[in-house]
Amino acid sequence: MCLSMSFEVLLKIRRSLDSEPVSIRVPLGKKLRKILLEHHLSPYQREKKIFNCRGMGICGTCKVLVLENGQWWERRSCQIQCFHEMEIQLK
Ligand code: FES
Repeated sequence: MCLSMSFEVLLKIRRSLDSEPVSIRVPLGKKLRKILLEHHLSPYQREKKIFNCRGMGICGTCKVLVLENGQWWERRSCQIQCFHEMEIQLK
């Protein structure tokens, strides 16, 4: 008998404020930056795709908007772990 379980959470991603969110299921606890890059949705803009700290939390170039309590907040995607359903917007 196999008892392996996979835990996932729902992540809703908008490309802009007026766009419809795309929903994907992601592994519980996975870093948001890594998820975005794996789905070819870069949190970086222009030259920051090359010049960034690669998720060390130092440069601040990986910011996305995160919907929390009805408001959008700027957060570093490399510092966010997906532990619950989230909605984000790329900048
Ligand atoms: S990648 Fe540098 S702060 Fe997130």
